[in-house]
Amino acid sequence: MSTHIGAKPDEIAERVLMPGDPLRAKWIAETYLEDATCYSTVRGMLGFTGRWNGVDVSVQGSGMGMPSASIYAHELINEYGVKTLIRVGSCGALTEDLQLRDVIAAIGSSTDSNMNRMRFDGLIDYAPVADFGLLRTSVEVAERRGITMHVGPILAADAFYTDRPDLYDTLADYGVLAVEMESAALYTIAARFKARALTLLTVSDHIKTGAKTTAQEREQTFGQMVEIALDTVAA
Ligand code: ADE
Repeated sequence: MSTHIGAKPDEIAERVLMPGDPLRAKWIAETYLEDATCYSTVRGMLGFTGRWNGVDVSVQGSGMGMPSASIYAHELINEYGVKTLIRVGSCGALTEDLQLRDVIAAIGSSTDSNMNRMRFDGLIDYAPVADFGLLRTSVEVAERRGITMHVGPILAADAFYTDRPDLYDTLADYGVLAVEMESAALYTIAARFKARALTLLTVSDHIKTGAKTTAQEREQTFGQMVEIALDTVAA
């Protein structure tokens, strides 16, 4: 096992979906994967491996925020040989044209986190981006499945509750679609260790209007996004 994942060396597939919520990982495994087995319960951050269309796929909870997601991405890639990671999460919409339950593919991720400033000694504003091949495949899959997917930049924030909502307005002026809390770290770690990563999101709340989805609505749209992610990761 690695420091935070209790799996044996070959129990995790090279292709992984990463929801923040470990119970979402369980739901994805039970709903979509054939012969899914749980490989880790360490800290309640559940991980499962099964098959999607005959391809081995794992689903690993990442927890909330970049410090937590970084731990799982780092160990999956460096200790278990994972090559492809797709985050499947929720986000708050920043731009007027997005509606609750819309699906987003994050082409790149700005961040207010200090993690990358430390990596680059504060000298470079590194731009974390999605793997182009994965992004392209996800767009093709969404089109084939008849699901509208917005493709654009997002913000990975350290804090869920902000004192600076004005910054969200400014980011929206620059075309930043939504805010979540993990993508910049995932993209950076994947790049650093030569893996491929993509972030897919569903809009769970709207920062401008204050609208929020119900738990039932979240589950329904989450399913559409997971199907895009599974077809993409297994392609
Ligand atoms: N994830 C879902 N909604 C969010 C929000 N409003 N801010 C940050 N992360 C989120």
